[in-house]
Amino acid sequence: MKDSFNREVDYVRLSVTDRCDLRCTYCMPATGMRFLKKAEVLSVEEILFLIENLALQGIKKVKITGGEPLTRNEIVPLIKAIKEVKGIEKVTLTTNGIQLTKYANALKKAKLDGINISIDTLDPDEFRAITRVGELKRVLSGLEKAVEVGLPNIKVNTVARGELTEEAICDIAELTKTNPIHVRFIELMPIGLGKSCPGLTKEDIFSVLESRYGKLSPFEHRLGNGPACYYSLAGFKGKIGFISALGHCFCAECDRIRITADGCLKTCLHMDDGCELKTALQTENKELLLQQVFSAIQRKPEKHHFLESQGDSRLMSQIGG
Ligand code: GTP
Ligand code: 5AD
Ligand code: SF4
Repeated sequence: MKDSFNREVDYVRLSVTDRCDLRCTYCMPATGMRFLKKAEVLSVEEILFLIENLALQGIKKVKITGGEPLTRNEIVPLIKAIKEVKGIEKVTLTTNGIQLTKYANALKKAKLDGINISIDTLDPDEFRAITRVGELKRVLSGLEKAVEVGLPNIKVNTVARGELTEEAICDIAELTKTNPIHVRFIELMPIGLGKSCPGLTKEDIFSVLESRYGKLSPFEHRLGNGPACYYSLAGFKGKIGFISALGHCFCAECDRIRITADGCLKTCLHMDDGCELKTALQTENKELLLQQVFSAIQRKPEKHHFLESQGDSRLMSQIGG
C-alpha cells in the first residue's frame, strides 16, 4: 500500500489493550482513568481477521503495543497466531517488563522477533516515583530472563525526561556494555500528559555520553523496524539509539499505521483520523474494511504537526505509542 507521498506502508502498530499495570506520570493520570470495556476491545478473532487482510495488502511487520500488552489475556497465543499469518515476516513487542519474567520463555517459544523494554531509570526509588506503583527489580529480572532465554533483538527504551541526570544517563547506557542489548533514548513527545513534561534533546544526551565514553560513531545498518538512529561506543556490546520525533523528524520515511485497542485506525501518532474499523471487523466485511483502510492511507499526513496543533486528544496508553 502506498500513501499519497509515495511511502510504502508495510508496518502496523497494534495496540491490544489500553490497560497497564503501571501508571507512568508522563503517560497516565494517577486516578480517574476510564478504560475500555471488554466488548469494546478488539477480540482475538477480529484482530486476526484484520491482520490477515492487511497482510494481503502488503503489511509485513507487526508491533504489539498497549497500554501494557502483557496484561492482555491470551497474549502468547495471539502472538503465535499473528506469526502464522501468511505474509507477516516480523512480530515484535513493546512492554514495560513488569511481567516479563513470567512470559519470556513463552515469548521465545512463540518465536517473537524482538522485544523493547521500557526502563526510565535504574534508581529503584525514582522508578517507583515515575511509575507510581512499579518495582524496578521485577523489570530488571524480566530483562535478565529475556537475555537468558535468548529472546532476539532486545532493546531498552528510556524516555529522555528533563530530570535525567548525567549519572542516570550513563547508568542506563552501560546496560549495553556487557549485555547484548541496545538502549534508546526517546525524546518526550507532546502527547497526552507528555505535553506538560520537560525533556532532554538528543544533543543533551549525546554530549554527556561522548564526554564520558568517547566518540559515538554512527551505526549505518538498520536495527529493528523503528525510527531510531543508532551509534556505537568503543567497548560496548550493544548500540545507543535515539528517537527524536521533534528534533530529528523521521516522518519522510514513515511506513506505518496504528490500530488502537478499540479498533481505530491511525495514520499518524499525532492525528485522530476518526476511522473506526470495529464494525467492519465484527461483521467480517472485507470490502468495507479495505475501503476504510485505503481511504485512510490516502489521507496519511506528510508529517506530524506536534508543534502546530493539538492533535489527538487520547493519552499515549490509549493510542499505543
Ligand atoms: P523497533 O525499532 O522495530 O523496535 O520499533 P520502535 O522503536 O518504533 O518501537 P517502540 O514501540 O519501542 O517505540 C519507541 C518509541 O518510538 C515510542 O515512543 C513510539 O511512540 C515512538 N515511535 C514509533 N513509531 C513512531 C512514529 O511513527 N512516529 C513517532 N512520532 N514516534 C514513533
Ligand atoms: N513521549 C515519548 N515516549 C513516550 N512513551 C510514552 N509516552 C511517551 C511520550 N509522551 C514511551 C514509553 C515506551 C514507549 C512505547 O513510548 O515509555 O517506552
Ligand atoms: Fe504503562 Fe507504558 Fe504508559 Fe508507563 S508509559 S503507564 S508502562 S503504557
